[in-house]
Amino acid sequence: MSLKVDFLGMELKTPFLVGSGPWLGEGSRIVQMIPKLAENWGGVVTKTYIKDFNIRWNPHLWSTRKYRGIGMQNAGPKLTDPTSEELEGLRKSCSMAHDEGLIVIGSIMGRWVSEWGELVTMMQESGVDAIELNLSCPARIDAFKDHKTGYIIGQNADLAAEAVHAAKQAASVPVIPKLTSNVTSVVEIAGACQQAGADALSAINTVPGIIGIDVETGIPLSSDVNDRAWVSGVSGPMIKPIGLRIVSELSREIDLPILGIGGIDGWESAAEYIMVGASAVQVCTAFMWKGYPLGEAMCKGLQGYLAHKGYEKVSDFQGSSLKYFSDSLESCSALAVIDEDRCNGCGECETACTDSSYGAISIEAERAVVDERSCVGCGLCRTICRREAIRYVAV
Ligand SMILES: Cc1cc2nc3c(=O)[nH]c(=O)nc-3n(C[C@H](O)[C@H](O)[C@H](O)COP(=O)(O)O)c2cc1C
Repeated sequence: MSLKVDFLGMELKTPFLVGSGPWLGEGSRIVQMIPKLAENWGGVVTKTYIKDFNIRWNPHLWSTRKYRGIGMQNAGPKLTDPTSEELEGLRKSCSMAHDEGLIVIGSIMGRWVSEWGELVTMMQESGVDAIELNLSCPARIDAFKDHKTGYIIGQNADLAAEAVHAAKQAASVPVIPKLTSNVTSVVEIAGACQQAGADALSAINTVPGIIGIDVETGIPLSSDVNDRAWVSGVSGPMIKPIGLRIVSELSREIDLPILGIGGIDGWESAAEYIMVGASAVQVCTAFMWKGYPLGEAMCKGLQGYLAHKGYEKVSDFQGSSLKYFSDSLESCSALAVIDEDRCNGCGECETACTDSSYGAISIEAERAVVDERSCVGCGLCRTICRREAIRYVAV
């Protein structure tokens, strides 16, 4: 049994990469991280490098009391202008990473077409194994609009293709556009990238959002020390459903390897991304919260899963869920069935079904009872049951 995966002909020790995040701006930070990542991770993606741009807003990370550990908002761009010191650090990092069997993916963002090529040239001189094109930075700032960069590129097939083409002209290593979910058709954008020569895809970046408002003061939670707020990117487990949807669409329609990203916080969510077709995954927010031990827990968990399912390798279950997705709906009827040993008669399903739906559940002798004539098998009662006491059968 092995956690090794093949990605673009490179062997990753495990399918887990540390995604582009705040820590990887300086090559020297990666140097410190490499030995600690060596055992359980397959590699790292650098912070996005962009020329002549080094704005810092602080604080730029927020969560809410209610959703702590579920979502986080990040006001980019804390992007890094590639100084020669940083590039030197990156060079060292790449060399150390390679000694440890890790890969390094360099992330870049050009502000106009010719800059993509310049950044590729600079980045690949550091020894990175591949280049990720950040076509999806969610920050809503004038500088991006003026230059047509960030998410603006990722929302326009022609601009995306132009950026990929320019990067490919300069690249001797694989080029991986990183896509935004904030589009009408991710397949259209990905198709344009593929035509322009993309070697693989990364998806998704953070999702533009507003994580909350302080109702006492009216100040958005996502504001800096001067109470100025931005619409920026939400990350963490809250966005996993969006990431899974995007990766599944890409897997079904585009024939390129995919790095799945968005809300991965353990081996199970990583496995979910692999089941919808990802070759490997990137983890950002959960790594920020849990640090190096997360990798160990993910490796142990995935090993256990392979053993339990009788798989030899991770690719044995890659894409295994795709066959269940259908574009055409067919009618079917179902009925809720209560597991009496699990049900404790709490009545939450009764309230939900009676007040908002079909009035098909009542509590009798401290157990939920389903009226077969009224139940349509809609699924609501199962969403509310905390004891997993409800299943559905076809009728
Ligand atoms: C603080 C922070 C900084 C980030 N910086 C970058 C970046 O520079 N470039 C990039 O492509 N993505 C960046 N991301 C996005 C992540 O790489 C990832 O796509 C996104 O957060 C979703 O994954 P997650 O839920 O595992 O965090 C950043 C995310 C966070 C939270």
